[in-house]
Amino acid sequence: MTTKVSAALLCAAALLLVVAPLAAEASELKLGYYKKTCPGWKNVVKYHVAKAIRANRGSGAALVRLIFHDCFVRGCDASVLLDPTPANPHTEKTAPINIGLAAFEVIDDIKAALEERCPGTVSCSDIVVFAARDASSILSNGHVHFDPPAGRLDGPISRAADAQRDLPDSTFTIGELIRNFRRKNFTVEELVILSGAHAIGVGHCSSFRGRLSSPPSQIVPAYRNLLSAKCAAGPDPVVTNNVRDEDPSAVAAAFPSFLKKLRKNKDFLDNSYYHNNLARIVTFNSDWQLLTEKEALGHVKEYAENGTLWDEDFSDALVKLSKLPMPPHSKGEIRKHCRFLNHH
Ligand code: HEM
Ligand SMILES: *[C@@H]1O[C@H](CO)[C@@H](O)[C@H](O)[C@H]1NC(C)=O
Ligand SMILES: *[C@@H]1O[C@H](CO)[C@@H](O)[C@H](O)[C@H]1NC(C)=O
Repeated sequence: MTTKVSAALLCAAALLLVVAPLAAEASELKLGYYKKTCPGWKNVVKYHVAKAIRANRGSGAALVRLIFHDCFVRGCDASVLLDPTPANPHTEKTAPINIGLAAFEVIDDIKAALEERCPGTVSCSDIVVFAARDASSILSNGHVHFDPPAGRLDGPISRAADAQRDLPDSTFTIGELIRNFRRKNFTVEELVILSGAHAIGVGHCSSFRGRLSSPPSQIVPAYRNLLSAKCAAGPDPVVTNNVRDEDPSAVAAAFPSFLKKLRKNKDFLDNSYYHNNLARIVTFNSDWQLLTEKEALGHVKEYAENGTLWDEDFSDALVKLSKLPMPPHSKGEIRKHCRFLNHH
């Protein structure tokens, strides 16, 4: 009996010894966190983000979405990056709510470059945050700019069910959206500010199927026809979130009055989302829902009127997003490869 108990205790102690060096509790986030341990690391991130955006502007939008989908689920801990394995086949990225999530290879490239420069030093979660920072800066021609602190750790837990529970769905009502953001300590105003990210990028037709039969009070019929035509092109095609990025032939056919507003430069990050929203030419139900509540509608109008204000408030909201912590007492590590835990 006693030997059994002490054997068990020994076992537990041995287990702790093995696990303890791998896991630490996150400390305070700091500006200049890697100043001594990996000088120049921010330039490495920026170089790779700029390169990825030059090759494919869509990867910039994907990086801006990635920070949201990482930080809203178990805090900013790179849990969204973990690939499924036999031991954990249902990681966050396999969740239906994460449909279309991309740019994982951009993160991999940055990580590989940083491992070469300063092995085992910069966390994947800090890379996600700074990649989103650089992407939003580049896509806005520098109008969105901020300097987030660093020092995040990479978490070991990644569950599709957590992503389904914590991320907002495009079919949500305004009440559901407000509650979803409030659970993460984000206000109605911040819900409106962050939704402005839908000025860039793409969405699958399955993410706004219901809108194809919404009444004119919710979506401009000509735009609805445009989306319907695009969505008839395959089982679940992607469509640009911002109507001004649409291809001219589709617009000429369904929405000719919009032709003069088309832009050559795609995926420009500005307050155009609020203009589109007030004009009822946005894709997701969750976008339109912002017009259905007094406070949210007030902010939509405010940001439609003042693009500089949005640039600044969006920057602040992304910094706040980047500070969402892991659940209390969580352990983390600095992953060597962003898709896998170190001891797998
Ligand atoms: C308010 C609740 C939100 C809902 C319901 C929502 C929903 C969605 C959906 C359904 C898509 C398209 C996914 C697909 O079909 O492929 C999407 C795309 C996107 N979302 Fe959101 N989103 C929300 C908030 C945000 C926030 C806070 C950000 C970032 C700050 C963001 C950034 C983006 C970006 C950049 C894309 C385009 C991604 C790409 O092109 O790769 N969204 N969102
Ligand atoms: C929200 O704020 C409360 C009160 O300060 C805090 O206890 C809680 O951990 C915060 N939630 C998140 C997700 O940060
Ligand atoms: C727009 O917002 C900026 C930044 O807050 C502010 O300085 C400016 O006065 C505002 N412009 C107008 C026309 O209200």
